Amino acid sequence: MITFEKVEKRYPDGTLAVESLSLELPAGQTTVFVGPSGCGKTTSLRMINRMIEPTSGRITIDGQDVTTLKKAELRRGIGYVIQNAGLFPHRTVLQNIMTVPKLNGVPTAQAKTRAYELLDTVGLPREFATRFPTQLSGGQQQRVGVARALAASPKVLLMDEPFSALDPVVRHELQEEFARLGPELGTTIVFVTHDIDEAVRLGDRIAVFEKGGKLAQFATPEELLSSPANEFVAEFVGKDRGYRALSFKQVGTTVNPVATIQLGDSTAELPAAGAAVVDTSHRFVGWARRGEQADRANQLEQRATVRQSDSMRLATDAVLTSHDGQAIVVDDDGRLLGSIDLALLAPRLHAQGSRA
Ligand SMILES: Nc1ncnc2c1ncn2[C@@H]1O[C@H](COP(=O)(O)OP(=O)(O)O)[C@@H](O)[C@H]1O
Ligand SMILES: [Mg+2]
Repeated sequence: MITFEKVEKRYPDGTLAVESLSLELPAGQTTVFVGPSGCGKTTSLRMINRMIEPTSGRITIDGQDVTTLKKAELRRGIGYVIQNAGLFPHRTVLQNIMTVPKLNGVPTAQAKTRAYELLDTVGLPREFATRFPTQLSGGQQQRVGVARALAASPKVLLMDEPFSALDPVVRHELQEEFARLGPELGTTIVFVTHDIDEAVRLGDRIAVFEKGGKLAQFATPEELLSSPANEFVAEFVGKDRGYRALSFKQVGTTVNPVATIQLGDSTAELPAAGAAVVDTSHRFVGWARRGEQADRANQLEQRATVRQSDSMRLATDAVLTSHDGQAIVVDDDGRLLGSIDLALLAPRLHAQGSRA
């Protein structure tokens, strides 16, 4: 766990960059610092590894005051990733990743094995090992930057806008992979971004900063979107937050009943709108229209289908893009539960968005 206790930073020119910040960042989780430019995110981050020293207050990692450690020793346990990767241009990908382990006296063969594993971890082909940074795209360079930061198995990983300079498609790709990787690493990650969508995607907890280095809210993504603490946060998280908040709600089992017939039942009388066809385990196999026979699964109409554990956001998308304004809901074994439409979704949408 990393704690900030009334940490303040005033630069020599008088700028108050961080104002009395008190925070507890849970171990093994990702905390995102988010806020507009100049609100003290980078300053707060860099005080953790003492690239910047606070004017007052205290930062501890697992109970230990960071000022009691030698800087070099402190930083050995902390990985650091910045916007443009900051790779050594004259060193190959492999040499870049091996930098810190070699400084730490890890035998070359061992450092190399680990470096290759890290290429796998960050989704780069092993053939890239001998390339130089300029022979990689921006996204690939960022992946190497992450691999290099992880090479010494740090217990803390600091990331300052690591994806901000990438084009939106690559950026989204890296966010998705990082969202998977983060929880696997078990590392305490502090991630800085000015992008609220990125924060919501990656953070277990989010600290929203206001101008002047004031902490406006510290909450889970869901809390942040559903109950912003003040006007500033509400404005910052944006107008469509009700929709985004749906990412955290599951579809559940509140559904409309649907007419059902058994697969292979050619005698069933179908209602005008047709019926859901299920197999002997009550799994949904398709939709039968009136006048058609439900005897062969491959002749049935396929329908937008969501699982009860899927997000409401996914369900909303499914409903909005379906031809008849509804989606089939199944349980996690594929058994038919019913259907969902906007009339069912709207009150939940409203409940999320009503706290303006
Ligand atoms: N070395 C410095 N000297 C004086 N002011 C600084 C220095 N570094 C940052 N600042 C100021 O401190 C405030 C916070 O900066 P920073 O932590 O970089 O914000 P962010 O990362 O949120 O954009 C800004 O007003 C910035 O201009
Ligand atoms: Mg910054």
